[in-house]
Amino acid sequence: MTDKSLGRFYALAQEFWSQLPPQARFRPLEDAKTFARHKEAMRSWVDAVVQGFYNTLFAHPATRAIFREGERPAREKTLRDWYLRTVEGPFNGQYFAWQTLVGLVHVRRGVTNAMMAAMWNWVVDTVSRLARQTLPQGEAEALADAWRRLGFTVMALISESYLHAYLEALAQAEGVEVGMFLQRAQEEGARMLRNLSPS
Ligand code: HEM
Repeated sequence: MTDKSLGRFYALAQEFWSQLPPQARFRPLEDAKTFARHKEAMRSWVDAVVQGFYNTLFAHPATRAIFREGERPAREKTLRDWYLRTVEGPFNGQYFAWQTLVGLVHVRRGVTNAMMAAMWNWVVDTVSRLARQTLPQGEAEALADAWRRLGFTVMALISESYLHAYLEALAQAEGVEVGMFLQRAQEEGARMLRNLSPS
């Protein structure tokens, strides 16, 4: 992936990031420091995370159906690289741009936002459990909090970029501006809600 191809995602990630209140999103200073303190421990969890992740996806028909025959080793490698990069830091604009792009890479394979959110939940749950098993309680809680904020933040970027790409594709097909679709969607949403309420 070149810096040039990431450029567009960099701007999108920044735009979505700025919508999140600082108290409610990943904290680049505090959370990154917590990650840095436990880099070694987290590195040692890589096999447990990667194996557990794919065991979970392959044990469920709807998620198993996404994969092609013989694809698992390649997928394990990409998740391994992703996890080690995440653990390594830094959490800069490029990292969040990359997460936004990774979200879209999944769309072309039919992975839904629902599946992505569920697996982020699984990752956060798993690292938090491993942290509680190996770190002093205060540190384990700090690390679990940092992962939870990371998970919600990245899912926020992924789901917004999914909607953005979807609307852009529709707008291009119709030859109109994305803003017009957003306006229409709001109006339609209001109309559907009015129709739901008893008159
Ligand atoms: C925490 C959630 C997830 C993370 C962090 C993650 C991470 C990644 C990464 C880093 C890649 C490589 C992207 C690239 O080529 O640049 C990838 C590819 C892929 N992932 Fe995930 N993934 C997640 C959830 C899922 C789920 C829920 C599924 C299926 C149910 C899935 C199936 C795939 C597939 C099929 C590819 C290959 C896409 C392609 O290049 O055609 N992933 N994932």
